[in-house]
Amino acid sequence: MNHFAYKSGSLHAEDVDLAVLAREVGTPFYCYSSATLERHYRAFAAAVPKDSLIAFSVKANGNLGVLRTLARLGAGADVVSGGELRKALAAGITAERIVFSGVGKTKAEMALGLEAGIHQFNVESEPELDALNVIALAKGLVAPVTLRINPDVDAKTHAKITTGTAESKFGIPISRAREAYAAAARLDGIRIVGIDVHIGSQITELAPFEAAFARIVELAKVLRADGHDIARLDLGGGLGVSYRTDNTPPPDPSAYGAMVERATRGLGARLIFEPGRLIAANAGVLVAQVLYVKQGETKAFAILDAGMNDLLRPALYEAHHEIVSVAEPMPGHARARYDVVGPVCESTDVFAQGREMAALKAGDLVAFLTAGAYGAVMSSAYNARPPAPEVLVKGERWSVVRPRIGYDALIATDRIPDWLA
Ligand code: LLP
Repeated sequence: MNHFAYKSGSLHAEDVDLAVLAREVGTPFYCYSSATLERHYRAFAAAVPKDSLIAFSVKANGNLGVLRTLARLGAGADVVSGGELRKALAAGITAERIVFSGVGKTKAEMALGLEAGIHQFNVESEPELDALNVIALAKGLVAPVTLRINPDVDAKTHAKITTGTAESKFGIPISRAREAYAAAARLDGIRIVGIDVHIGSQITELAPFEAAFARIVELAKVLRADGHDIARLDLGGGLGVSYRTDNTPPPDPSAYGAMVERATRGLGARLIFEPGRLIAANAGVLVAQVLYVKQGETKAFAILDAGMNDLLRPALYEAHHEIVSVAEPMPGHARARYDVVGPVCESTDVFAQGREMAALKAGDLVAFLTAGAYGAVMSSAYNARPPAPEVLVKGERWSVVRPRIGYDALIATDRIPDWLA
């Protein structure tokens, strides 16, 4: 359920006409719906125990407007870099609601998290544990830590976004968990607070989660018997969303919540969740304009002003995004098949192949649906294309929450060395 719908013949975000926004801010641009963000957050919060920490995964959408919208509802943040940590704090998410994940935290990032007083570090290796210990001791602080345990479960998702199998770079193999916890317990700068697990993203069945959580709950019992204080279980993110209008939707938050309740019943641990996509994906669209419709030998190309630098998912993961006309196709409107492509000089700059859709002509506006997660955050300035701006809508109000970078600013990021001046 989202708040993008046709009204008076034009696609709206809540009460804002995307065609009007296109005129005002130019294309391409991202547009997010506050109501959808809020709805998804509330649906998730209602499905999990009341005292849980819901740490929105900032990597999915790090815009300050989006983060503050969620912060107002009580969301925490899951961050994976000093940059994301700073963004979460700048958006008004308090440090005690921030968890810090990631396999390659630098010493500077650890220091930042320690000084801010974050809720916990999700540590992914023994060397990282040692480094964090040294920094905490030097500061006279103690780092609250979970170890990210890799349960060796296949998440049955795209190979490029699975993380929970044995030889993944993420986490500590479950076979080594007891040793790692014993090592952590010997470090004075480390305080063990729980276990962390995250098996992958865009997971569309409950079974892999259930298998992973069962292993983690078993491990929690073993670790408690070993004398460790396992007070928190961080169950990560990963619940998928529907990218196609024609397939069976993934389990909804309430089914996920019921499964979590079954899996963790009686353990008496505070739960932490790190949803990203589930909250943000269907709360955002990318609007682009058709530059040209070009007839090839056997097929037609719709060439857009958005490229893989704006929305990388199709090029990187062969991901499917629905593409709809902003002007509502009326009954009887001609349909046609296109390869929908961007202007970037790469043969992978293709959003869809042979996609049947309402016939397009130059100047038409199209919207990529389900683009609110892993869209703008993965954009780049490749081909010296300024990344698309972002707009946040609330009812009939809208605000440019990230302006388009001007060409002068884009060029000014480079410097000519003194020997060429
Ligand atoms: N927690 C950790 C430790 C993660 O690595 C991730 C995502 C999440 C939480 C949030 O997962 P979510 O609820 O959004 O599934 N760029 C890819 C997705 C990469 C996901 C990376 N980790 C894509 O566009 O599909």
